[in-house]
Amino acid sequence: MPDLSDRTAVVTGASSGIGAETARALANAGARLALGARRTDRLEELVKELPGEGHVTAPLDVTDEDSCAAFVETVAGALGRVDILVNNAGLALGRTSVEESNDEDDRLMLETNVLGLVRMTRLVLPHMEDGRGHIVNLGSWAGREAYPQGGMYVGSKTAVLALTRVLRRELVGRIKVSTVDPGMVGDTEFSDVRFRGDQERKDAVYRGVDYLTPADVADCILFAVTRPDYMVVDEMVIKPLQQASQDAIVRK
Ligand SMILES: NC(=O)c1ccc[n+]([C@@H]2O[C@H](COP(=O)([O-])OP(=O)(O)OC[C@H]3O[C@@H](n4cnc5c(N)ncnc54)[C@H](OP(=O)(O)O)[C@@H]3O)[C@@H](O)[C@H]2O)c1
Repeated sequence: MPDLSDRTAVVTGASSGIGAETARALANAGARLALGARRTDRLEELVKELPGEGHVTAPLDVTDEDSCAAFVETVAGALGRVDILVNNAGLALGRTSVEESNDEDDRLMLETNVLGLVRMTRLVLPHMEDGRGHIVNLGSWAGREAYPQGGMYVGSKTAVLALTRVLRRELVGRIKVSTVDPGMVGDTEFSDVRFRGDQERKDAVYRGVDYLTPADVADCILFAVTRPDYMVVDEMVIKPLQQASQDAIVRK
């Protein structure tokens, strides 16, 4: 059984999907959690069902500097030290060509997926202990393969992979840095957000595919954060059996 009973963890974007499931996995392993997202009612509901005591929730908008600073202050006050930071908050907006893209969507993807991740990392690092701290970024297959109509989502996740590698070199010997990069994950709100509630477009993404679940991704994160102190899982790429790349999917 993985044991995180002497660890604390911060999970961003814990109000749904992969973030919520990661919170469950970490709490089941005994970690004490701080959960952030904009929808705090969801976080409060989640905390009620988690095993263990002393979990905290606080509002967090990773695109907003003040919100991030206030969140980290609250969390550091409650947890003391932060051992694990899961930079999960993220989103895609639309599937349009660069030609048809717009600044508003591009800016929000960059602000959330890239600047938000860097900002949270910068703010949490002073609360981590060398030889103990671990940053886990949620990348994506989209950060490893440029695909048409991937637009700024591809751009943002490519930046996440590059920044993960920068951090790994900067923090070597002190803080573990990992990225978990999934292909298609269903049962999250990712496609609701991406297609702005267009159910037909969402259904088309997952049709005929035994996609990964948030629990599968959480399992990978749990594996990464429960390795011995001397071992780092640098990068994990996971995809459904039926997916070779973004547009090489064998549907039933
Ligand atoms: N689903 C996939 O196929 C897939 C594949 C590869 C990678 N990923 C990555 O996995 C991560 C989680 O996605 P998911 O599939 O679980 O989607 P999801 O269910 O939509 O969850 C996204 C989470 O991010 C939070 N979030 C969004 N903007 C935020 C902001 N400005 N500040 C704070 N939190 C914010 C949301 O919370 P609030 O709205 O309450 O703030 C929500 O909890 C993302 O980074 C995504 O890019 C997903």
